[in-house]
Amino acid sequence: MSDMAALQLLLVISLGSAFCQGFTSVRFNRNLSAAPEPVAERWFLQRLDHFNGADSRVWRQRYFVNDTFMQPGGPVFLMIGGEGEANPAWMKSGTWLTFAEKLGAFCLMLEHRFYGQSRPTPDLKVDSLRFLSSRQALADLAHFQTIVGLDLGLSDRKWLVFGGSYPGSLAAWYRLKYPHLAYAAVASSAPLNAVVNFPEYLEVVQTSLAQNHSACPNTMKVAFDSLVQLLQYKDNFEKITEDFKLCKVLRIKSVMDYSYFLETTTEILVNVVQYNNDNRAFEGVKGGNITIEVMCRIMANESLGSPYDRLVAVVQTILEANDQLCTKAEYTEFVTEMRDNRWGGPASEGGRQWLYQTCTEFGFFQTTDSVSQPFSGFNISYFIQQCRDIFASSFNLSTVANAVQQTDEYYGGLKIQSSRIVFPNGLIDPWHALGINTNLSSDVLAIQMQDAAHCADMYPERPEEPSSLPAARREIFKLLTKWLS
Ligand SMILES: *[C@@H]1O[C@H](CO)[C@@H](O)[C@H](O)[C@H]1NC(C)=O
Ligand SMILES: *[C@@H]1O[C@H](CO)[C@@H](O)[C@H](O)[C@H]1NC(C)=O
Ligand SMILES: *[C@@H]1O[C@H](CO)[C@@H](O)[C@H](O)[C@H]1NC(C)=O
Ligand SMILES: *[C@@H]1O[C@H](CO)[C@@H](O)[C@H](O)[C@H]1NC(C)=O
Ligand SMILES: *[C@@H]1O[C@H](CO)[C@@H](O)[C@H](O)[C@H]1NC(C)=O
Ligand SMILES: *[C@@H]1O[C@H](CO)[C@@H](O)[C@H](O)[C@H]1NC(C)=O
Ligand SMILES: *[C@@H]1O[C@H](CO)[C@@H](O)[C@H](O)[C@H]1NC(C)=O
Ligand SMILES: *[C@@H]1O[C@H](CO)[C@@H](O)[C@H](O)[C@H]1NC(C)=O
Repeated sequence: MSDMAALQLLLVISLGSAFCQGFTSVRFNRNLSAAPEPVAERWFLQRLDHFNGADSRVWRQRYFVNDTFMQPGGPVFLMIGGEGEANPAWMKSGTWLTFAEKLGAFCLMLEHRFYGQSRPTPDLKVDSLRFLSSRQALADLAHFQTIVGLDLGLSDRKWLVFGGSYPGSLAAWYRLKYPHLAYAAVASSAPLNAVVNFPEYLEVVQTSLAQNHSACPNTMKVAFDSLVQLLQYKDNFEKITEDFKLCKVLRIKSVMDYSYFLETTTEILVNVVQYNNDNRAFEGVKGGNITIEVMCRIMANESLGSPYDRLVAVVQTILEANDQLCTKAEYTEFVTEMRDNRWGGPASEGGRQWLYQTCTEFGFFQTTDSVSQPFSGFNISYFIQQCRDIFASSFNLSTVANAVQQTDEYYGGLKIQSSRIVFPNGLIDPWHALGINTNLSSDVLAIQMQDAAHCADMYPERPEEPSSLPAARREIFKLLTKWLS
């Protein structure tokens, strides 16, 4: 690539995105020029619209195969792609492959429509995005399984589906809606309960921050309140720009600018919690060495100055570890990038599409409405306004609430009625608040990992991993073995 702009791909994914496979949420300039290791990709001719028999248009959906462990009569494992480019690193390692090896499984991973290279329409205009929904994605899985099953002679095998985060929900919903195709599901860190307003996210962040240093949430709150105070005077904007390594001098001309800056800053911090001490490094994600413990140790270090100074030190430490050159904190620029509806546009890897799914299906908006958390400055109006500014002025709180209600009506939310589904959840992870945390029946089961974060059970093992992981993996494997026998 010839120019610097091309090297600095920008991923824009909203706060605390429900993302596991691939890159984490970022609205920072980050150097992604290092190409991932090539793995043979395959393409599947997929229907554009599964819910209109008169529409015969098709497109090419990307998938990956690993047949190394296949045994005669063994099961098929299907990893479900999510709201970002499918990362072929999952075809080389990860917990599911260790299960595949023991159970003689044939492994497939299907990229989610509208993400990565799986592009059903020529652009990302709102009119095209009407083909983007979890229901279409589930029907993609069904058509894919049916045709590829026939082609490869795997139709009669037992198909087990896997996914983490939003794809975890898809795994559970695929088993729910297509029980004749999906034999069982492992739904890791799956948010099953769609909600417009999700203030519990930051409540769990507060609880998790206290795990090593009990004073951490309060010091964080004092620091954040100081930042909010500094924001009242334009004279401080240059200092704030420097402290938080903003790409451009801070400008606040509207409530949206104000909320956007505070949300962006919050996101840097909460990502440390969501992914605390996990093994995303195997996917090429940086910054894993910054944990809650590291962050809160800095927050407790009085020799670094005031709580505000320590917050600045934390943010700079995180940005450095992530190789993030600077942070984009301007709402108008964010909107311009998110409105770009071309493939190859700055938010086309997933940011635009995922926001669309939250505005039309899930909500999941992580507001600062609760008093039991350290942050402030962004409420539900701020998120709904994004739906309006980026997609269409027809969005408002009632349209989003109506869409979210429809989602829960369709899938059943936390009252999912199914069988042979296991729901692993790390209790450090803020997303567990929308997941299944109790056993619903003898074979719809919750596995709780006390000291683990988002999707932690899915990553390859490491010696220094949270202590609850080995037992959780063993329990999941025991269930799969039992269900397959
Ligand atoms: C991005 O990384 C590549 C390879 O590591 C390096 O050559 C390039 O200079 C980096 N670009 C920036 C803007 O840091
Ligand atoms: C399949 O997975 C195994 C185990 O991780 C790995 O050694 C092998 O290279 C993978 N094969 C392909 C085709 O990706
Ligand atoms: C603190 O952090 C470490 C990891 O750095 C972890 O092993 C430990 O369980 C945490 N919790 C407490 C209460 O110390
Ligand atoms: C506190 O910060 C100072 C200055 O960076 C550092 O030298 C010291 O080791 C830190 N203390 C702890 C307990 O981390
Ligand atoms: C984290 O790792 C990066 C290298 O990936 C290193 O530059 C940084 O100093 C480390 N930070 C801490 C706090 O360990
Ligand atoms: C959200 O915050 C803005 C700015 O403080 C305020 O004007 C608006 O009324 C708030 N909306 C809700 C639903 O609380
Ligand atoms: C929300 O938008 C819908 C459709 O665009 C409209 O019919 C409705 O009156 C709006 N509701 C509110 C409360 O603004
Ligand atoms: C659900 O049942 C499984 C298997 O019996 C058990 O391992 C697990 O701890 C139970 N989960 C909860 C949340 O009680």
